[in-house]
Amino acid sequence: MTARRVHLVGIGAGSPEYLTQQAVTALNEVDVFLVADKGEATDELVALRRAICDRFIDPTHPYRFVTVPDPERGPDAPRGTAAYEAGVRDWHAARASTYAGIVAGLPPGAVVGFLVWGDPAFYDSTIRVVDAISRLVDLEVTVVPGVSAFQALAAAHGVVLHAVGAPVHVTTGRRLVGEWRAARAAGLHLGTLVVMLDGHLTCRELAAEAPELVLRWGAYVGLPQQELRAGPLAEVIEEVVELRARLREQHGWLMDVYTLSAD
Ligand SMILES: C[S@@+](CC[C@H](N)C(=O)[O-])C[C@H]1O[C@@H](n2cnc3c(N)ncnc32)[C@H](O)[C@@H]1O
Repeated sequence: MTARRVHLVGIGAGSPEYLTQQAVTALNEVDVFLVADKGEATDELVALRRAICDRFIDPTHPYRFVTVPDPERGPDAPRGTAAYEAGVRDWHAARASTYAGIVAGLPPGAVVGFLVWGDPAFYDSTIRVVDAISRLVDLEVTVVPGVSAFQALAAAHGVVLHAVGAPVHVTTGRRLVGEWRAARAAGLHLGTLVVMLDGHLTCRELAAEAPELVLRWGAYVGLPQQELRAGPLAEVIEEVVELRARLREQHGWLMDVYTLSAD
């Protein structure tokens, strides 16, 4: 039997201008886009995905959007690492079984599209979820890379992420402080730290003990409301904390990403 096809398309982390030619070609083959509905706060992000399709898909190519309510996911912050990882696994499994039901209802040969924010390879569950769906329904999967938030951040600040020949360490707000302290205690140099998924600007905890760190921060990178700040961590962190809270209040949602480096 002909397998359903899945295009998992990285759309870049903000501006529609980040879309690659490969992404545009893939979008033009999709019959049904599956979009997770995460509630009102991210309506703007769903609208952005629709605007990308309006702009880049040939008007003669028919396609539709199917919005799928996202399964309940408990609060992340108060949980320990094991409970957090188990929670994420359960959530992926619940998502996979909902999507598998929808995909199985499509005609063989249909092309399903997932529009993935940024690059599918960084802190996004879609590849894992599609992998799980493919254990339930026969699928042929294509992944298209996109511009990740931290690439867009580096470009917006006009910097190379790492010192010459030095590493870059990509991590989350949840892990930052522990990893930084453990590396320092072991005499290891992690290189430039790239921090995503940090709802609390945890780098504030490092301001006193790491005066050498320079912060390069960006919120809504690539979007019209983009804000950037840069400077020695200890000098700019309070302004960024205050600005972050104000922006979140004003827009109802916020995504930010930052780097820490010893310039
Ligand atoms: C679930 S992850 C998705 C990452 C995405 N796959 C990527 O490659 O950028 C969401 C995190 O990415 C970062 N992020 C995504 N888009 C952003 C943007 N336009 N501006 C600032 N940060 C962004 C934030 O750190 C946010 O917490």
